[in-house]
Parts: sequence; C-alpha cells; structure tokens
Amino acid sequence: MKFFLLCFLLCFGLKPAFFTAASDDQLLYHGFTAGTNLTVDEAASVTPNGLLELTNGSLGCKGHAFYPTPLHFRKSHNDTVQSFSVAFVFAIHSSYPIMSRQGLAFVVAPSMNFSTALANQYLGLMNSQNNGNLSNHIFAIELDTVLNIEFKDINTNHVGIDINSLQSIESNSAGYYDDRNGTFQDMVLASGDAIQVWVDYNGEAKKISVTMAPLQMAKPTRPLISTNYDLSSVLQDPSYIGFSSSGGEVDSRHYVLGWSFGMNKPAPLINSVKLPKLPQPKHQSKLLKIILPIASAIFVFAVGSMVILLVRRKLRYAELKEDWEIEFGPHRFSYKDLFHATEGFKNKHLLGAGGFGKVYKGALPSTKLEVAVKRVSHESRQGLKEFVAEVVSIGRIRHRNLVQLLGYCRRKDELLLVYDYMSNGSLDKYLYCDDPMLILNWVQRFRIIKDIASGLLYLHEKWEKVVIHRDIKASNVLLDSEMNGRLGDFGLARLYDHGTDMQTTHVVGTIGYLAPELICTGKATPLTDVFAFGIFLLEVACGQRPVNSNARANQPLLVDWVLEHWNKGSLAEAVDTRLQNDYNVDEACLVLKLGLLCAHPFTNARPNMQSIMRYLDGDLQFPDLTDTDMSFSLLSQMQGEGFDRYALSYLSLNTSIGTISGLSGGR
Ligand SMILES: Nc1ncnc2c1ncn2[C@@H]1O[C@H](COP(=O)(O)OP(=O)(O)O)[C@@H](O)[C@H]1O
Ligand SMILES: *[C@@H]1O[C@H](CO)[C@@H](O)[C@H](O)[C@H]1NC(C)=O
Ligand SMILES: *[C@@H]1O[C@H](CO)[C@@H](O)[C@H](O)[C@H]1NC(C)=O
Ligand SMILES: *[C@@H]1O[C@H](CO)[C@@H](O)[C@H](O)[C@H]1NC(C)=O
Ligand SMILES: *[C@@H]1O[C@H](CO)[C@@H](O)[C@H](O)[C@H]1NC(C)=O
Ligand SMILES: *[C@@H]1O[C@H](CO)[C@@H](O)[C@H](O)[C@H]1NC(C)=O
Ligand SMILES: *[C@@H]1O[C@H](CO)[C@@H](O)[C@H](O)[C@H]1NC(C)=O
Ligand SMILES: [Mg+2]
Repeated sequence: MKFFLLCFLLCFGLKPAFFTAASDDQLLYHGFTAGTNLTVDEAASVTPNGLLELTNGSLGCKGHAFYPTPLHFRKSHNDTVQSFSVAFVFAIHSSYPIMSRQGLAFVVAPSMNFSTALANQYLGLMNSQNNGNLSNHIFAIELDTVLNIEFKDINTNHVGIDINSLQSIESNSAGYYDDRNGTFQDMVLASGDAIQVWVDYNGEAKKISVTMAPLQMAKPTRPLISTNYDLSSVLQDPSYIGFSSSGGEVDSRHYVLGWSFGMNKPAPLINSVKLPKLPQPKHQSKLLKIILPIASAIFVFAVGSMVILLVRRKLRYAELKEDWEIEFGPHRFSYKDLFHATEGFKNKHLLGAGGFGKVYKGALPSTKLEVAVKRVSHESRQGLKEFVAEVVSIGRIRHRNLVQLLGYCRRKDELLLVYDYMSNGSLDKYLYCDDPMLILNWVQRFRIIKDIASGLLYLHEKWEKVVIHRDIKASNVLLDSEMNGRLGDFGLARLYDHGTDMQTTHVVGTIGYLAPELICTGKATPLTDVFAFGIFLLEVACGQRPVNSNARANQPLLVDWVLEHWNKGSLAEAVDTRLQNDYNVDEACLVLKLGLLCAHPFTNARPNMQSIMRYLDGDLQFPDLTDTDMSFSLLSQMQGEGFDRYALSYLSLNTSIGTISGLSGGR
C-alpha cells in the first residue's frame, strides 16, 4: 500500500518527463536528470539531454551509476532471494568501429564503491585480485565487445551472466530468436543503435534469463540465455543495483537511455518514444578522416586502372574506319570479333604464311562460323579505297569453286581479310608430301583440275566483270570438306598496286608461274592467268614443283622438262611416279599437253578458259599438236625477249611477290 501511494505521488508529481517511479519495489526511468536519484562516479555523468553516459570517451576510463538506495532482495534476513526483473536500453558509440570498445554491465552488488576495480577488460567491476572471489557477492550481466582469453570469452560481441567473476557462467553471441520462425538473428552490440535488454530472475525456479532485441521490438519469447542458478548464495541483503562500464582504447561511449526494475513483478515497460535521443554519431567526421583517404586512394586506383584497361582495350581493338567505308558496312568485321575468333591471333591458330601475310583459323564469336583470317600488312593508304571497293565487289562473287571472301577489317598498317575456312587445306601440301596417306589419286587430281578450271572460267568469263586472278598456284588451291578444289586469293595482287607509274615494272605473282610477257610488261591479262594455270596443270600431273633445281638437274623449270619428254615422245614418263601407274593415261596426257599449250610463250597460242574447260570435259577434241606447234625453244624465246629465264631458277621461292596492275578489266 505504501508503495502504491508513493507511486501515485510521484507519477502525478513534478517530474513526469524523466524520473517516473521509485520505490523498493519498482523503478522506471525514461532518461535521467542530473538531480535524479542516481549516484554516478568517475567517467559517468548524466548528459544535458538526459542520457546516462557511463564512459566519457577518455582512454581506459570506467564509470558507474547506481540507484542510491539499496534494495531488499529477500523478504527476511535468511530467506531466499525473491524474483526480480530488469529492463534497460543501452547504446555503444565509437569513433573507430575497428577499435576495442570494451562494454558495460548491469550489476547487483553489495556496495557502490568500485574504486579498486579496474577498467578495460574488468569492466570497472573487479580487479585481478578479487576476480572470482566468492566474497564479491556480485551478479552482473555483461555486454562485452572484446574477446578476453583469460575470461574464456566466446567472441567479440557477446552477452554473459557473471557471478563474482568476469568469467561468465553462461554466455551467447548477441542477438535474439525471432518469434515468427524461431531463427537466431544476430545483433551488433557496438552498432551505435539503441538495444533493449531484459534480465529476469525467477526466485522459485532459481532461473536467470537474459533477452535482447532492437529497441523497437517487443520482448522475444525465447530468451537469449537461460540458466538455473540460485542467487540466494550470491546476493547480500540489501544490495545496490546499477551499471558499470569501462571505455575502450579510443573514444568510445556507453549510454543508458532508459531503465526499469520490478521486485517480484515484471519490470515496467519502457516506452521508446519517451527516451532521450542519442547524439548523432560524431564519429562520422573522424571516421572520414581515416576512411576517406583510403577510400579515395582506392577510388583513384580503381578509376586509374579502369582507364588504363579501357585505353589498352581501345588500342588493342583499335580499327581504322573512314567515311568512304560506310557503304561497305555489311562486309566489315570488327577487329574485336576477329581478335576473339582467333584467340588473339595465337600461333596455334596459324594456318600458314605466304607472301602477303599470315593466315589464321578462327570461329566467329556470334555465329561460330569457321573462318580463315588473312592479315595483310599495308603501309600505304594510297589505292586502298579502290582496293577495299574491289574486295567488297569480289566478296559478291559466289561460285562453288572459289573460296568465298566474307569481308574485311582495317587497322593501322594492317588489312584483315576474312574467308571461308577450307578444312582440307591447300593442294600443295598433298602434292609435295611423302606421306602415302595424303597422296591424291588420279581421279581426285583430275576432279580438282576441272574444279579450278571452272572457278577460273567463272572469274574470266562468267562474272559481270573480267577478274584476273594473278596468283594461280597450288597453294592457292584449297580443298573444302568434300575435297572440292576451290581457288582462293583472287585479286589480292591488286593490293600492291600503289598507283605507281604503269611503266615501272613490278612483278606480281609467284615465280615459276609468271608468263614471259607479264615479266616484260607487267600487264596482267586473262592469258597470263592461263599461263599460270598451265604450270598448275603440269604440277598436278607430275607432282613436282614448277621450279626445282635439285630434282631435275638439267631442267630446273618443270615446263621445259615436260617439253623435253614430249619431244622425246615419252610424255607418260613425266606423270607423277607416286601414282604407281594407276591412272587414266589419256586424261594424264591430255592434262600434260594442255599444260604445255597453256604455258606456251606466245600468248596467241594459248587457249582461253572456255576451250580449256571443254577440252577437259571431253566436249572438244584436243588438237593434234604438231612438232612445229610446240617446237619452240623456250630458252631462245626468253633470251630473245632479253630475259634470262634461268635466272629465275635460282630464286626457288614459292611465294607471291608484289607488282602493279589492274584487278579487273572492262568487259
Ligand atoms: N581459306 C582458307 N582455309 C584454310 N586454309 C587456308 C585458307 N587460306 C589460306 N590457307 C592456308 O594458309 C596458307 C598461307 O596462305 P597465303 O598467305 O595465301 O600464302 P600462299 O597462298 O602464298 O601459300 C596456305 O598455304 C593455306 O594452307
Ligand atoms: C532520492 O531518494 C531518496 C530516498 O530513496 C529521497 O529521500 C530523495 O529525496 C530522492 N532525491 C531525489 C532528487 O529524488
Ligand atoms: C572523463 O572522466 C575522467 C574521470 O574518470 C576525467 O578525468 C576526464 O577528464 C573526463 N574526460 C572527458 C573528456 O570529459
Ligand atoms: C534466521 O537466522 C537466524 C540467525 O541468523 C536464526 O536465529 C533463525 O532461526 C533463522 N530463521 C529461520 C526461519 O531459519
Ligand atoms: C572506497 O573503498 C576504498 C577502499 O576499498 C576506500 O579507500 C574509499 O574511501 C572508499 N570510497 C568511498 C566513497 O567510500
Ligand atoms: C577473497 O576476498 C577476501 C576479502 O577480500 C579475502 O580475505 C580472501 O582471501 C579472498 N579469497 C581469495 C581466494 O582470494
Ligand atoms: C525468419 O524471420 C526473419 C525476420 O522476419 C527473416 O529475416 C529470416 O530470413 C527468417 N528466416 C527463415 C529461415 O525464414
Ligand atoms: Mg594464298
């Protein structure tokens, strides 16, 4: 009755805002006032806005706050400790989250004099001498942010029940069990946010429970820690209740915002609305002092490396693109695609290298189409526009015996041409190898010859313009997956047309395949292609290179050697011995004779592609060549033209060389 009167008096008294109730039986603080019934010492104080500040931020300080009147925890002197209940709201602020902030504790103790207790890990509660001494009579709930091995702490963020010792009898990581689904939700003691803690002692069951939750949340049903312990053996009568705290290494503050206590009854509810406001964490500015330079350094570094990466990427994939190319857009490939298609032009993708550059195999990223990418270096931009225009127009040429040009890409000093990939490679590999598995039989050879004749006929006569190939040779004859012959690289020689004076003679093509008049005048015509095709015919039938000083000691030029056989009437002996006489003699002799006729030094003696095709198909009877038809002396012919043909034999090159010319002539 006395209690209720007191409560009434106080509730309707003069200080309703902060200090609401006090009696032996019940306390309720929504914030504190300097004059309130609270004994504070050392670093502890009550701030002007009503917060109880247990530590003031100085290094290694400690502070306490106690309700000044001791409470009777037993009904009579030698009775057991009765049930009691505590609720409080605290917050830990720290300028440097990574630094130690120690912690605080709710305490029930026989005295308010903690002058001999130590700060830091002792939380202002004990010292090294009396820690664990049963004569302490201290019961405390510690909220600890430091892992002290000597007290067997579990982690750097835990709640523990301490009896006479800082080594907790029971502890748990800070957090709560969610009422809805029972899962454990972690909480951070030093987050700076207000956290509510409930401590309940059941005098009959002798059970201590500790519960914790964010301020706005109602008390969770399942306690965080629950343990059986008879506090009758611990607490003295009467005992003081209050808080103890120790500061950390650097500026850290421990606040209590509200507090309630009930003896033999639940602690009154703390109304979060009535609690004083926590100071704005002023650690922001200080935090920035440390974090900002690091963050900006990281930022600058990140931006720097981004820029470097982007620039490198840009340089790596840089292309040349000019206005005049817009019309060729669809035929233009991005360098990036070609780069990825060939995995950065790795050597393992190298198909081969010729006079114009290296050829790589690749698969286009978008379509997975297999392509051959030819990298041609070009220094001069002169004539390039015309060349690209030609390339694109050539790209429109479609024939089953021509290697399809898919498009191009241009970079500084470099032109990339993209062709269909021919899975069986080039014919020269089959003609001159010693692997019996690779040797082509006569049927295959004759078919390839007809394929190439048909491709060349298309270029010369069937397409909308006359296209001169300029570089017919075995390595430009490619074999697709079905072993069809396909002519490649047509028109490439045009690249070396630098718009130079037509009088200056540059030879383009490959030595051994060059018609005599081409060497003299530098002017390519369909009949110079026919000459090279003739050499190619001899090459396929004989399985020998057009120029080879070793194999035919006295006849370095294949054409002279075959002519010699023809003159002796032993033409069949010129046929490739690797065929082991397993071939159609008529076809082979036709090919050899046709080869000789095509490679005739007099242009007007050479047949055109139309006739060649018909001879090969058997549609046209091959003329009986008289001796006079063929009895030209190549040697004298060439010397007469002022050109020493044998000089060429010293150049046993098999690669294309540059010259001038027009790719296609008007029809
Ligand atoms: N479209 C292609 N598909 C498959 N392989 C090719 C293709 N184009 C060229 N090659 C290979 O690359 C090699 C080099 O070609 P190239 O640079 O034209 O030189 P050359 O024709 O003078 O030998 C050829 O010998 C051939 O084996
Ligand atoms: C504090 O409480 C004591 C008794 O518990 C009382 O005498 C005193 O007036 C109170 N002081 C204040 C400032 O409330
Ligand atoms: C904090 O409290 C201690 C007493 O424990 C005092 O010496 C110190 O000056 C106080 N520091 C501040 C910043 O108020
Ligand atoms: C309480 O303790 C006193 C001595 O301290 C003893 O005389 C008395 O019998 C005890 N009472 C009970 C009920 O145990
Ligand atoms: C606290 O206790 C110490 C010794 O333990 C004593 O010297 C000091 O005077 C006491 N202080 C108060 C305020 O009683
Ligand atoms: C416990 O403290 C008391 C009084 O302070 C002292 O006499 C006793 O020796 C201490 N016991 C131990 C084990 O330190
Ligand atoms: C339990 O509830 C909490 C809060 O509602 C939620 O964050 C958590 O994911 C839930 N856990 C499960 C397992 O459903
Ligand atoms: Mg080639």
